[in-house]
Amino acid sequence: MSENQPTTGGPGLPQERVLRTEIPGPRSRELAERKAAAVARGVGTTLPVYVTAAGGGVVVDVDGNSLIDLGSGIAVTTVGNSAPRVVEAVQHQLERFTHTCFMVTPYEGYVRLAEALNELTPGSHEKRTALFNSGAEAVENAVKVARVHTGRQAVVVFDHAYHGRTNLTMAMTAKNMPYKNGFGPFSGEVYRAPLSYPFRDGLGGVEAAQRALSIVEKQVGAANVAAVVIEPIQGEGGFIVPAAGFLGTLARWCRENGVVFVADEVQTGFARTGAMFACEHEDVVPDIVVSAKGLAGGLPLSAVTGRAEIMDAAHVGGLGGTYGGNPLACSAALAVIETITEDGLLDRAAAIEKTMLERLTKLQAADPRIGDVRGRGAMIAVEVVRPGTIEPDPETTARVAAAAHREGVIVLTCGTYGNVLRFLPPLAIPDHLLDEGLRVLEGAFEATR
Ligand SMILES: Cc1ncc(COP(=O)(O)O)c(C=O)c1O
Repeated sequence: MSENQPTTGGPGLPQERVLRTEIPGPRSRELAERKAAAVARGVGTTLPVYVTAAGGGVVVDVDGNSLIDLGSGIAVTTVGNSAPRVVEAVQHQLERFTHTCFMVTPYEGYVRLAEALNELTPGSHEKRTALFNSGAEAVENAVKVARVHTGRQAVVVFDHAYHGRTNLTMAMTAKNMPYKNGFGPFSGEVYRAPLSYPFRDGLGGVEAAQRALSIVEKQVGAANVAAVVIEPIQGEGGFIVPAAGFLGTLARWCRENGVVFVADEVQTGFARTGAMFACEHEDVVPDIVVSAKGLAGGLPLSAVTGRAEIMDAAHVGGLGGTYGGNPLACSAALAVIETITEDGLLDRAAAIEKTMLERLTKLQAADPRIGDVRGRGAMIAVEVVRPGTIEPDPETTARVAAAAHREGVIVLTCGTYGNVLRFLPPLAIPDHLLDEGLRVLEGAFEATR
């Protein structure tokens, strides 16, 4: 361990960008060689700096570099890495017991978290929750519940959707490379409808929903549909915010046709967009909400929360898994909820949105390669195009991301066409680091002209 290494992470880490070596530095490169020899090639890395500590708005690597975090480990550490209440709660739980399996001998933390999720998710109807480990596992379980409740099989998903990498969720995910290529055959009874993508289709929300529903009615038949599953703002697909009225029109159609409306809030949930759940921005009340990522501050946990009569349709023993609702993860999630409430993080996400949209819109006015600036809360993106067109420019996108990485700012790309730069800062990031991160990004656009 070098003299540059902090012994703990969390918000107490110096909140500064420090570059001691090139990025990645020599120790990270050594580890990358060991990774190549030991880890399956299919597990890729975006920015191969090897981490020793993280907290607030920084990630510190083995070479002593301190990078500005605009990724939150893909929208997970919303309350910050090693957030104090999470550390305290998990330590407390760790000293008592680490696992019993809720399906064998249960514990209160699981029940408390279910109660909290039933309260926090949109709608005042009676609800039930079941806990799992990953986003994909929770999406699968939402589909299981919808099928057993309706006695139907078809699942409707959308263009640009991302729902995970398990067999069913690969079928539900739109993009072939890298998520699906060569991994078939995929699960059946999954049907894809066009999304609302205002930058590309120019349609209003109601009109886009009617286009999608007419295809569903003609090609699938409403009476065969168990569930419509949608991300209220698409994540991996390009941070696409549907036009106003799109989600509401879909939800209404579901209600009228006995179809379960499932909001996949894995990426958008838990304060990320400035509301506890992104559906709230549109006053949409889903039948089932799927949470993961930001839910447990970095511990693996996911949840399916829905109307009691839908969730209770599954027979006793039909839902579960060895680790689902692990006690450490439940204690972390309860501490995350407390942190969001006590630290006013919904307002913090709204303030981050204001700063980022202002700065990026200004950048767009000066740079014709930025076709669109969009997003909500601390989930903001720019879509990069060839000037004067809406033709995607994934090459420039990759060059801008690489330039930001070299300067010690973690940014991610996404989008069906690979031409979207997305920003997911932890809500614990201090203003001066957010400002510096944006300055580096502006410099990265300038350097790649
Ligand atoms: C909207 C959405 N659903 C599902 C998933 C899958 O979650 P996990 O990677 O935890 O399986 C993700 C992951 O990025 C996601 O963004």
